[in-house]
Amino acid sequence: MKLLVVGGGGREHAIIKKLRENPDVSEIYALPGNGGIAADAVCIPEIGAKDIDGIVNFAKSKRVDFAVVAPDDPLALGCVDRLHKAGIPCFGPDAKAARIESSKVFAKNLMRKYGIPTAAYRVFTNPESALQYLETATFPIVLKADGLALGKGVLIAQNLQEARDAVRTLMQDRVFGAAGDEIVIEEFLTGPEVSVLAFTDGKTIVPMISSMDHKRVGDGDTGLNTGGMGTVAPNPYYTPEIAQSCMDTIFLPTLDAMRKEGCPFKGCLYFGLMLTPGGAKVIEYNCRFGDPETQVVLPLLKTDLLTIMRAVENETLSEISVEWSEDCAACVILASGGYPERYETGKPITFTTPLPSNVTCYHAGDKDSHGQLVTSGGRVLGLTAVAPTLREALRDAYQAADTISFEGKYLRHDIGRRALQAGMR
Ligand code: AMP
Ligand code: GLY
Repeated sequence: MKLLVVGGGGREHAIIKKLRENPDVSEIYALPGNGGIAADAVCIPEIGAKDIDGIVNFAKSKRVDFAVVAPDDPLALGCVDRLHKAGIPCFGPDAKAARIESSKVFAKNLMRKYGIPTAAYRVFTNPESALQYLETATFPIVLKADGLALGKGVLIAQNLQEARDAVRTLMQDRVFGAAGDEIVIEEFLTGPEVSVLAFTDGKTIVPMISSMDHKRVGDGDTGLNTGGMGTVAPNPYYTPEIAQSCMDTIFLPTLDAMRKEGCPFKGCLYFGLMLTPGGAKVIEYNCRFGDPETQVVLPLLKTDLLTIMRAVENETLSEISVEWSEDCAACVILASGGYPERYETGKPITFTTPLPSNVTCYHAGDKDSHGQLVTSGGRVLGLTAVAPTLREALRDAYQAADTISFEGKYLRHDIGRRALQAGMR
């Protein structure tokens, strides 16, 4: 079988490595892929993830048997709709269903209409009414751009002045462009965060192993928000009781809601949850695998990934059983110094020793330059270790991180610390 994976980060590398385990897979094309992914797939750097025409034409010309669209942008742009129209089976939601991530207003209104627990909120389309509302609000408060903003469209304001600045940033300076023309202002929630990715064919939902992201750039959860500096799985806060209540109050109601709205969701639905004193609430939905959650979740998957993805496409997910390893996984991201703000690229990456068999290096932002891998993004590599305990997984991931170097290499030193403090071994 010939497969195509749209995207070119650590998440896509993890998906590709897992798909490769199926002996029927003869070829995987990655559009655009990256320097490190080239060891596991045929990368086509000329075709970017937002080039929908390019992707569809390529898929047709190579007669690919199955496509996986991983990033949010092509999903929101209707890549899956177009591939389907060209007769190519694929994994991922259509553009209508992808609105669950591409429009925060759509997601919030969906949750309100169907009674799915989330932070109380108001929607604003002009800055004057937003500013007026803030005069009587309580702080901290959260302001979110409606549209896709590379995970940076969420601003937490500690006081009125910060909230006014946030309205200016989003709506007047339009730092995220049209994404900020409509904003959500919502209640600030507290509690541990859990990421739950789930396979769903629109009728059946199969949650994957839970995970914990580390979104802030600095140790001790300080500094700016990033795409994620590391992850661990499973998440110790996500007990079987909480999982059951999430299934009943969040996962199944969301599936039903999407069906009733005429946009059944097929693909990977990501629930960003906060376990508040008042129960689990949805912080955000994503219409795709998380990054770097995927780098700890998929290594623990025992069932063949392609079989699951095809069952999602064929709406036969209820017929297969999805099995998970009992092990733990930890992923440590190596980033370019300065990320998530300005950073330099083009730095040669040196790997000094081969990695042990329980450690995988996922390539997120690098490229080949005359036979040498050099950095090309903010998040460069993700080192994932799998072991019987989290402590061992963290030790092995950090040891591996030490053996890789590039100028300006930056990493957090406390990935998994909170999970250990919460009682994980
Ligand atoms: P998002 O991009 O929606 O996941 O938001 C980024 C981060 O902002 C989340 O992971 C949370 O840590 C934080 N956040 C978002 N919404 C809220 C909220 N209502 N209350 C507290 N923190 C929030
Ligand atoms: N790691 C968070 C995300 O993928 O959105």
